[in-house]
Amino acid sequence: MESKLEILKASVRTVPDFPKPGIQFRDITTLLHNPDALQITFDLLVERIQNSGIAPNYVIGIESRGFMFAPTLACALGAGFVPVRKPGKLPAAVHTIEYDLEYGTDRLEVHQDAMPAGSKALVVDDLIATGGTARATANLIDNIGCYVVGFAFVIELRDLGGRSQLPDVPIVTLLEY
Ligand code: PRP
Ligand code: ADE
Repeated sequence: MESKLEILKASVRTVPDFPKPGIQFRDITTLLHNPDALQITFDLLVERIQNSGIAPNYVIGIESRGFMFAPTLACALGAGFVPVRKPGKLPAAVHTIEYDLEYGTDRLEVHQDAMPAGSKALVVDDLIATGGTARATANLIDNIGCYVVGFAFVIELRDLGGRSQLPDVPIVTLLEY
């Protein structure tokens, strides 16, 4: 019988040469289409987050694909949901962080009043590659006086070493490539 992780891995589609030549794009839309894979994803994430001792007040979802997982996890963990968005999307006063990409820079933003100072935050995204996006999000949370108590990703691209960029807190992942 296929294990839960085998069912999950089989549900992720790999698209070669997207968005540019040489990139193997790990597409989670096919996981989202599949009710069994979707249920397994949330069941395993919640189990591993709780077994890691991560007990957040807020779950932070990173735009865009982090939004597909973070609010459901927040409900299951009895936490609130906070969106971290690309620039110019949040309507009230924001804190901004600029971070380096392979070529150039990018920015992420969070509402200044999204969480009370001292809150404990779990950062969620679909995938960690170089770790730049998750690290920038962690820095943004530090800058607003809150604490990152863990990270959760459905997919880790292990060879890119993203986890070495992150602070020393538990990191939950389900699938490795
Ligand atoms: C993807 C992915 C992560 C990020 C990981 O998002 O969803 O957020 O890249 O890469 P990193 O670890 O090298 O920083 P993308 O920027 O493609 O945006 P999207 O979610 O809007 O598609
Ligand atoms: N984000 C960064 N690298 C990616 C990849 N290979 N597949 C899907 N999303 C990504």
